[in-house]
Amino acid sequence: MYRQQIPWQVNYDESQVPPFSLPEVLRTVDGVPIDSVAQWEANRPALLELFRKEMYGRRLPLPDSTQYKLLSEKKDALDGTAIMQQIEMTFSMDNGKSHKAIMLLFIPAAARKPVPVFTGLTFNGNHVVCNDPDILVTGSVGAEFRDFDRTYGSQARRFPLKRIMERSFAVAVCSYHDFFPDDYRGWEKSILPLFLSTEELRPRGKDISAIAVWAWGLSRMLDCLETNPLIDAEKGAVFGHSRLGKTALWAGAEDTRFKLVCVNDSGCGGAAPSRRLFGETLFSMCAKENGFGNYWFTHTVKDICAVPEKLSVDQHQLIALIAPRAVAVHSATLDRWADPRGEYLSFWHAAPVYKLYGKKTVLNATPPPPETPVGTDMSYFLRQGRHDMLLSDWECYMDAFDAAVK
Ligand code: GCU
Repeated sequence: MYRQQIPWQVNYDESQVPPFSLPEVLRTVDGVPIDSVAQWEANRPALLELFRKEMYGRRLPLPDSTQYKLLSEKKDALDGTAIMQQIEMTFSMDNGKSHKAIMLLFIPAAARKPVPVFTGLTFNGNHVVCNDPDILVTGSVGAEFRDFDRTYGSQARRFPLKRIMERSFAVAVCSYHDFFPDDYRGWEKSILPLFLSTEELRPRGKDISAIAVWAWGLSRMLDCLETNPLIDAEKGAVFGHSRLGKTALWAGAEDTRFKLVCVNDSGCGGAAPSRRLFGETLFSMCAKENGFGNYWFTHTVKDICAVPEKLSVDQHQLIALIAPRAVAVHSATLDRWADPRGEYLSFWHAAPVYKLYGKKTVLNATPPPPETPVGTDMSYFLRQGRHDMLLSDWECYMDAFDAAVK
C-alpha cells in the first residue's frame, strides 16, 4: 500500500489520493444508526471519549482555586478605540503548586453594554498582536525551547483589532507557551505538574497532549472572562490558526460554552480527514518521537499514524461534536499542506448532524470558489492566498457570529 511503502512522501496530486471511507457520522460508537437529536446526544459523550482516548487525551480537572489580578488597564488603547486590560491568572493547588498565565483583553471603548468575545491563543506571546509598548512580553518560557519572537506587533496582520472593535467584539488572547511550551520537552514547564506527579508525566503523551492543555487554557480564559462585567461571556467564540486551529476545534468540542468555533487552516489533526492522503498526514506529523507535532497528540496517534484507518474516529465527527453550536471552517488556496479540499470534506460530512438539529447547512458537496463565504450555522470560507489568518477571515468569523449567535 502506498502509505506503508513511502509514508514520508507528501502527496499533492488529487488523482493519487488512495480511496478511503470515513466513519458514518450518524452512527453510535457501537454502529447503531442515529436518526434523532436525542440519540445523537445520548451517544455524544461516548464519541467525545473516543476522541480523548485516541487523539487528544484526557480532560484535565480544574485547579483547586484560581485568582485573577488586573495588572493594567488602559482606557485609550488602539488610538482610543479600545479598553486594554492585562489580567494575571494564577491557578493554584492546595499542595502549594501554582502556575500563571497572562491574558490580554481588548474591549471596544464605544460599547454601552457587555460585548461578545473572541478567545484565542497566540504563537509567541501577547506582544505579537499589536505594537503597544504597554503590552507585557508573555510566553517567554517558550524561548527555552525554540525561537521566540519578542518583536511587538509581528503578527498584527492576524489581529485586525481596530476593525474587530468597530464591529463591537472583544478579543482575549494568551500565549500558548504559558499553558504548554510548544516543544516535545515542554511537559514539566506546562500546567500539567499541577495535576500529575513527575512519574505520571513520564510516559509522555500517553493519554494527554499539548492540544488538550492548550484547550484547557482556552476554557480557563473563558472562566476569567465570565467574571468581567464588560464582557458577555455567554456569547463566546473561540478561534485558532494552524496548530491552534486544531486546538480551537478540540476546545469547542470539550467546552460547550463556546457558541462559535472558528477553525483556521487547521489541517491534519484539525479539520482535515486523517484518512485522506493529501498534504500533511498523521505520519509526517507524529511518527518522530522528538519531532514536531508528536506531543500535540496522544501516543495512540503516534502508534497508528502510518495506518489512520486504525482510528475509530475521523475529524468530521469532531466538527459534528460542535453541533448545534456554530462552526466556521476556513482554508487557504495555497495552503496545500493543510489540505483545503479535505477540510471542506470533513465540514460537509459533519452536516447531517447539524441537519438533525434543524440547522441550515451547506448544500454543495464540492467546495465553494475562493473568496466566497457560504453558510451560517456551519460556515466555510476559502481565502485566496497562503497559510495565514487575515482580515477577510475575521470578517467572515464576525459575520458568522452575527448570523448564528447574536
Ligand atoms: C506545521 C505543521 C502543521 C501545523 C502548522 C502550524 O505546518 O505541520 O500541522 O498546523 O505547522 O501550526 O503552523
